[in-house]
Amino acid sequence: MLGPVILAASRSDRMRRLVSAAPVTKQVVDRFIPGEDVDEIVPIVRDLTAKGLELTMDVVGEDITTPEQAAAARDAYLELIDRLKPLELGSRAEMSVKLSMFGQALDGGHELALANVRPVVEAAAGIGTTVTLDAEDHTTLDSMFAIHEELRKDFPETGCVIQAYLFRTEADARRLAAAGSRVRLVKGAYKEPAEVAYQDKHEIDKAYVRVLRTLMEGDGYPMVGSHDPRLIAIAQELAHRAGRKPDEYEFQMLYGIRGEEHLRLAAEGHRMRVYTAYGTDWYGYFMRRLAEKPANLRFFARSMVTK
Ligand code: FDA
Repeated sequence: MLGPVILAASRSDRMRRLVSAAPVTKQVVDRFIPGEDVDEIVPIVRDLTAKGLELTMDVVGEDITTPEQAAAARDAYLELIDRLKPLELGSRAEMSVKLSMFGQALDGGHELALANVRPVVEAAAGIGTTVTLDAEDHTTLDSMFAIHEELRKDFPETGCVIQAYLFRTEADARRLAAAGSRVRLVKGAYKEPAEVAYQDKHEIDKAYVRVLRTLMEGDGYPMVGSHDPRLIAIAQELAHRAGRKPDEYEFQMLYGIRGEEHLRLAAEGHRMRVYTAYGTDWYGYFMRRLAEKPANLRFFARSMVTK
């Protein structure tokens, strides 16, 4: 039951100040967010790709309050893409973006987010890679899907994320499972009300399998975003039954979670992409990782006491 409490705290400014100022926070945060700026992250990109892994890069940040911050977020991605260019990784290092960080929640936010994300998608295409739009809380999704559709007119490989816990997702998956589309399926990481989302873990898992079947049987490119060993095994079985070859779908996991499994799947010949977040505005991202596994919170609390 700790998870919902931590998710509520992830939206509290007071908790943000408290957690961010705690002296030992950084060493715990580093497990999930291995760098604060592009200089720290480029060596990590080199290291992970040398191990046969692929990446999707997230400059952390969300809930911004001014258009200037949204423009700064865009520029941070542009800088990252510029720094990735000489590595010539192509689609082995793609970008994940949260539209809230590009201004989606501000006045005129839909247009602002689209205007900010478009140059990032263009720049990514310029180095042979793609962008995936992360899914945030359910109130943002109609705008996210509309932006996704708009971007796909010029950049058809732009991906998006769907969340198994939402009732709407089965219909979204049917719409998106079409030729050329790239869709990441995740369980969902936000605190959502019972009117729009399954609350029970078992129900969420069952929904995940239903949606995954739709994606695997469809014509798009499914990206299986989960660390759950049962779902990974089911994904392999569904891919096999749908006649998909190993390069016709991929697994995705978060940096810092089940790292051995990343390497195992890659060694078995699967495409394995590691979602790698970096930056200084890590609070929301970090708190969602704590909420997913309360043991993380105990480790965090213990390190604060013993320091
Ligand atoms: P589950 O939570 O059941 O975990 C399975 C096992 O994985 C656990 O038993 C544990 O061993 C390990 N594990 C999982 N989370 C852990 C953690 N935080 N710390 C330590 N161990 C952990 N969500 C969203 O709403 N929008 C999005 O855009 C994305 N994007 C995204 C990208 C990628 C690549 C991934 C993998 C996940 C996301 N998510 C997300 C997060 C997702 O919704 C979900 O919260 C987490 O993936 C945890 O769910 P699992 O499927 O891993 O299962």
